Amino acid sequence: MSSTIESVLQETRAFPPPEAFVKQANISGMAAYEAMCNEAERDFEGFWARLARENLLWHKPFTRILDESNAPFFKWFEDGELNASYNCLDRHLKTQPDKIAIVFEADDGKVTHVTYRQLYEKVCQFANGLKKRGIAKGDRVLIYMPMSVEAIVAMQACARIGATHSVVFGGFSAKSVQERIVDAGAVAVITADGQFRGGKEIPLKPAIDEALAMGGCEAIKSVVVYKRTGTSIPMTAPRDAWWSDVVAGQPTDCEPTWVGAEHPLFILYTSGSTGKPKGVQHSTGGYLLHAMITMKWVFDIKPKDIFWCTADVGWVTGHTYIAYGPLAVGTTQVVFEGVPTYPDAGRFWKMIQDHKVNIFYTAPTAIRSLIKAGGDLPKNYDLKSLRILGSVGEPINPEAWRWYYETVGGSRCPIVDTWWQTETGGHMITPLPGVHALKPGSCQAPLPGVIADIVDETGHSVGNGKGGILVIKKPWPSMIRTIWGDPERFKKSYFPEDFQGKYYLAGDGATKDEKGNITIMGRIDDVLNVSGHRLGTMEIESALVSNSKLVAEAAVVGRPDDLTGEAVVAFVVTKGPRPSGEEAKAMANELRAWVAKEIGSIAKPKDIRFGDNLPKTRSGKIMRRLLRSIAKGEAITQDVSTLENPAILDQLKQNL
Ligand code: WTA
Repeated sequence: MSSTIESVLQETRAFPPPEAFVKQANISGMAAYEAMCNEAERDFEGFWARLARENLLWHKPFTRILDESNAPFFKWFEDGELNASYNCLDRHLKTQPDKIAIVFEADDGKVTHVTYRQLYEKVCQFANGLKKRGIAKGDRVLIYMPMSVEAIVAMQACARIGATHSVVFGGFSAKSVQERIVDAGAVAVITADGQFRGGKEIPLKPAIDEALAMGGCEAIKSVVVYKRTGTSIPMTAPRDAWWSDVVAGQPTDCEPTWVGAEHPLFILYTSGSTGKPKGVQHSTGGYLLHAMITMKWVFDIKPKDIFWCTADVGWVTGHTYIAYGPLAVGTTQVVFEGVPTYPDAGRFWKMIQDHKVNIFYTAPTAIRSLIKAGGDLPKNYDLKSLRILGSVGEPINPEAWRWYYETVGGSRCPIVDTWWQTETGGHMITPLPGVHALKPGSCQAPLPGVIADIVDETGHSVGNGKGGILVIKKPWPSMIRTIWGDPERFKKSYFPEDFQGKYYLAGDGATKDEKGNITIMGRIDDVLNVSGHRLGTMEIESALVSNSKLVAEAAVVGRPDDLTGEAVVAFVVTKGPRPSGEEAKAMANELRAWVAKEIGSIAKPKDIRFGDNLPKTRSGKIMRRLLRSIAKGEAITQDVSTLENPAILDQLKQNL
């Protein structure tokens, strides 16, 4: 089990929601929550069908609810037809066309407002432009964009014409982009010349050119480039076209392409236990339903609210809580191009003040770095507009929680500590702001209709604070449908035989206390969580080993880190003699740059140690548990009698 548990200190106080808050909440009080849970228990399918009818606009109503005939490939609302973009945009045209949909704040502070009607027109024009370039229903489109209105327009336009988007975070390398293009079988790319972050200009399009030159990407017929930075970049005609030319002269209406509820809205790659990232495939109907209900239940969204989720659209949080959820419920949201520490560590607080943000959703890693960079800064700003704070991506340690609660939220705003995953599509386990007395560091309670439990290896419930494996015992509408192109891996990863293939295995360890509060302890597989980003240890190992000039063997583990939650530590056996001193430092830097090139900067090992060998059993298995202890600097208490080469431990313990 990952070591993040150690950073979660005991905090025994509970923080009940203020009465006035409970009164106005969309789910108001424990009895209301329990009534919903009971409804789901009594009539599971009826519960979800009711929500799907109340929330989504169906072009053709569904008659079937849950199809379990080919489990674990579950289907929801399968014979219904709808369009995600229609559900996010057209539905507001009559009721609130002039409401601001997006308040975009650029890196340099420039603010742009986009109304629902304007967003609709932008999406329609771009959708028409994509169609003109031959992109059609079912095609996969890779999106590699900075945080921008256009990134959202690109996603929505794909949804409008039934194309399946696959957004790749702008920090990933050309090699990662190429792998995803090949795996998804993409036919088009939407990108930008570059992006601004923290006052710096960072190129984007060159990574696409590099990726496409690597081979295997011959199916890419079209690259649309949004001009953001204005730097000169090579354009290859007729493949490449500027965004402005693609939309020029296009009509501002575009009939949505109706798709079945199960039609893949997007594929989003995430890290797993093996070297190859998994293409998590999501549906249209079930996914959008969950995005909407969680906006209402968890963020308690009201017509006048200003919502701000600080994630990047390259991650699932940016999909559900920027590109889809806020639009589907018709809220006004802030979209931010830049970074929290530029021009100074007061940026978030200034933006909350300037835009009068009511609901603010960010990650513990950002909170910790802002405490470090200026824990008193929030006091210089008027943050009274805030009414709910959210946290996502990793366990939030109680010190950070307390600071967030008191200094940012003025001890007045409930914190929703939302546990979920790329695979779950939306929030799964979280306190509800008008229901639960908050327990810092704990995500507490499953949403109504989400049947979560903590079990032991045999699938039996554990309880009373004991540790176990987090599972979801029933399917839910926004769940992953499959791993793109690899149904066997989907079954093996998420519905393992250990539980007769019946439970969804989240991959996290957790505990449940006597009150039923669920607390996440961290991953139980070889996945690390660095600054809220998922990284597979095997992925980084493969990247290191692919440097065949320098690296003979590599093992990667995580260790707790005050700022990033976990940090990547790599143990490397070199091809040549083991380097030491300055030579070791230089080689470590070279390998870090190598990993950045192979995967992206986020995967760079913080610490690289060189050894003549790795600790292995006599059968040749690397003992990662020992490496984890060494990485943490703890004494080795495990049994080392099965080790082939115990002496190696001392060598690896020595620092660079
Ligand atoms: C972790 C991000 C504790 C967890 C939405 C999960 C959390 C992984 C929380 C998914 C939380 C996410 N408390 N841990 N509130 N939220 N995690 O796919 O280990 O990028 O399995 O999705 O992040 O990461 P992913």
